[in-house]
Amino acid sequence: MSSRRASAAPSKQQASVGNQGAVTFRAAREADVPAITEIFNQGVEDGMATLDPPHTVGQRVAWFREHGSNEPVIVAESGGQVVGWASLSQWSARMCYDTVKELSIYVRREWRGKGVGEALLSRLLQRGQGLGLHKVTLFCFPENAAGVKLYRRLGFVDVGVFRSHGVRNGIWHDILAMERQLTDH
Ligand SMILES: CC(C)(COP(=O)(O)OP(=O)(O)OC[C@H]1O[C@@H](n2cnc3c(N)ncnc32)[C@H](O)[C@@H]1OP(=O)(O)O)[C@@H](O)C(=O)NCCC(=O)NCCS
Repeated sequence: MSSRRASAAPSKQQASVGNQGAVTFRAAREADVPAITEIFNQGVEDGMATLDPPHTVGQRVAWFREHGSNEPVIVAESGGQVVGWASLSQWSARMCYDTVKELSIYVRREWRGKGVGEALLSRLLQRGQGLGLHKVTLFCFPENAAGVKLYRRLGFVDVGVFRSHGVRNGIWHDILAMERQLTDH
């Protein structure tokens, strides 16, 4: 692991990220939702993260409240500012999929490429294992190089590509589905 990276050791609550100083990791609170929204909307603007339009804080508060005790939302923080977040959300309302969750992960623009994403994701996966979850799924653009590299590094494997699956501004996009088992079965 190169020295620029945040430590991925999930037991540590604090890690050094490049030259940017200490980054801490904790469960998100509702008071974090404005920052979570701002960081999500940066991902929307940059065009590589989602087909969604920008969200309002109100929409994100509703999203946050949907997360039950088996659906963690965590944040990375530096100098009192939220610099990234990651979540495991309900994948399906059907009971048979209760322990399958869907990943979202977003890092503040100026903090990308410094190891925050890897540190967040490794902690979130460990949290999922601690909760007894079975699997994490995700859906992303195949051309999201940073995301795909991060996911593969942390053990996600390709399920397949949905061709022309989602539309934005009249243009259809392929969507890569990936999964990461958290248990042996
Ligand atoms: C995708 C994202 C969460 C990754 O987090 P990050 O903190 O930037 O990633 P890390 O610094 O932990 O790096 C992860 C890997 O991706 C690589 N990477 C980072 N930025 C990259 C880029 N622009 N192009 C290619 N690879 C990149 C890193 O080099 C690293 O691989 P390495 O360790 O082999 O060098 C973050 O870039 C982000 O928030 N992007 C915008 C929102 C988004 O796309 N979210 C995912 C939606 S599916």
